[in-house]
Amino acid sequence: MTNFHILTLFPDMVLRGLRESIIGRAETAGHISIEALNIRDYTLDKHKKVDDYPYGGGAGMLMQAQPIYDAWLEVERRIAKRREKEGRPDERRNRVIYVTPQGRTFHQEMARDFAREEDLIFLCGHYEGVDERVLETVVTDCVSIGDYVLTGGELPAMVMVDAIARMVPGVLTNQASGETESFYDNLLEYPQYTRPEVWREKAVPQILLSGDHAKVDAWRLQMAEKRTKERRPDLYAKYEQDHPASEKKKKVRDR
Ligand code: ADE
Repeated sequence: MTNFHILTLFPDMVLRGLRESIIGRAETAGHISIEALNIRDYTLDKHKKVDDYPYGGGAGMLMQAQPIYDAWLEVERRIAKRREKEGRPDERRNRVIYVTPQGRTFHQEMARDFAREEDLIFLCGHYEGVDERVLETVVTDCVSIGDYVLTGGELPAMVMVDAIARMVPGVLTNQASGETESFYDNLLEYPQYTRPEVWREKAVPQILLSGDHAKVDAWRLQMAEKRTKERRPDLYAKYEQDHPASEKKKKVRDR
């Protein structure tokens, strides 16, 4: 079970996006929970302002520290209260992920790692940035979804919540699919086919119809290797490092 807490100026955007399909069903089934707090609700400014000009000048506005800090305090209070009710008082600091192009680039292993947490707090920035002092105070992890800049942190947070949530036990109904999919063991997934057997004169590879599971597995591994080598030579290099040639042959036999 992982509880996601998202600090954002656009809670509806985040919740609408995440409460669909597999992730939505996972929440209904109680494998995860998702809440979004509107940072604007925590501002002490009488005009509900959450941003201001940067000291030293420069373009754009910055999100102020106070509303973010108070929204974070509220999440921490809720988490502590829940744990106390369950007879498990707080033991350690909850991870707070600030989504920013300045962070480490998100990848599958990070998703697996974050999925082990009971609570995860996401901070979505907007405007031209966030007052550094609140980041220093609350953030434990800075994470980016890639080397490009978006207008806000909501989409990156949604991307990460989706990828993390599907690694939480129980979320994927087919338990095995987390282990055969792309990036498992640094390999991309093999090509897949479903009915009809022939579509626009393209036939499904014969071996998949053979019923010989060992041969099918060997073919799939071979295709996964070929595809990774062609499309992601950087990943393939890592895979080869972990699987010297002699071991790879053995792996095919074991499958
Ligand atoms: N905010 C804006 N762009 C981003 C990115 N690429 N990753 C994470 N957060 C962001």
